[in-house]
Amino acid sequence: MPEPDDHLVIEPSVLYVGTPVYLVSTMNPDGTPNLAPASSHFALGRTIVLGLETDGQSVQNLADRPELTVSFPSGALWRNVERLSTVTGRDPVPDAKADHYRFEPEKFERAGLSPVASDLVAPPRVRECPLQFEAVVQRITPGVDAGFAMVESEVVRVHAHPALVVPGTDHLDPRAWHPLIYSFRHYFDRGSELGWTRKSRTAPTPPEIARWESFGGTWEVADVGDSSATVRLCRCDGGEEVSRITSSEPDFVAWAAVMAS
Ligand SMILES: Cc1cc2nc3c(=O)[nH]c(=O)nc-3n(C[C@H](O)[C@H](O)[C@H](O)COP(=O)(O)O)c2cc1C
Repeated sequence: MPEPDDHLVIEPSVLYVGTPVYLVSTMNPDGTPNLAPASSHFALGRTIVLGLETDGQSVQNLADRPELTVSFPSGALWRNVERLSTVTGRDPVPDAKADHYRFEPEKFERAGLSPVASDLVAPPRVRECPLQFEAVVQRITPGVDAGFAMVESEVVRVHAHPALVVPGTDHLDPRAWHPLIYSFRHYFDRGSELGWTRKSRTAPTPPEIARWESFGGTWEVADVGDSSATVRLCRCDGGEEVSRITSSEPDFVAWAAVMAS
C-alpha cells in the first residue's frame, strides 16, 4: 500500500519559492538612471530573462532604451534593497501602486548605493553589489497575465568582485558568493553548502584522491552515507584494491556522494 499523502492543498498569495534578488538599472527619458529591486529571473547560457511588472518604470525604460545592468546584492545588503520596496521611478504612480508606492527619482541615493559607470551600456552598475551584469534587450514578450512581461537580454559583460573569482580563472567561487535570497517575501542568506553537481568546475577533489590519481591509480566509491564515505584505491593495472580511505570530512563525503550518483 502506498503511503497516504500528508501534504496540505493551499492557496498561497505568492509563489516566490526563493530566488536571488537583483537590482535592475535602466535609463529614464531624462537621462538619469532608474534602479529597481526584483527577483523573478532565470539565466541560461548568455541569456538572462527577467520577469518585470508592466506598470513599472523599468520595463517602460527597456521598451524605449534597450540597455540594462543587473546587479546582484549579497545578503548583507538586504536593508539597502528594502529601502527601494516602496518607491517607483514612474511619475505619476500608477493607480494599482498608489496605496503602497511613491515616486522617487533618486533611487541610488534612496537605497544608499553608488552608481558606477558601465563599459558597454548606458545604465550604471551598483558598486556595492559583488556581481554585476551588463546586458542588452533582445526581446520583450507580454506575459499571459497583462501585469508582467518577460525581458530576454544578452549579457554582454560580467563584473565580479575579486573575492568571488577563483584566482587565475574566469570561475566564480560558489563558496565565496552569498546572494540575497527572496523567499515568500522574506530575505535570507543562502545558508551553508550541501554539495555540488558533477559538472562543477570548482568542486574540490579530496587531496588524497588527487594524489592517488597523480600516481596513475584508480578508485571506486565503496560506500557513502550521510556523514561518512569509503573509497577503494585500486591499481591502474587490473584494478586490484590496494587500500581504502574512510572519512567523515564533509568535502570528502559530498565528493563521494557526487561520484557515486
Ligand atoms: C525583494 C523584491 C523583489 C521584487 N521582485 C519583483 C519582480 O520580480 N518583478 C517586478 O516587476 N517587480 C518586483 N518587485 C517590485 C518592484 O520593485 C516594483 O515593481 C517597482 O515599482 C519597480 O520600480 P520601477 O517602477 O521604478 O521600475 C520586487 C520588489 C522587491 C522589494
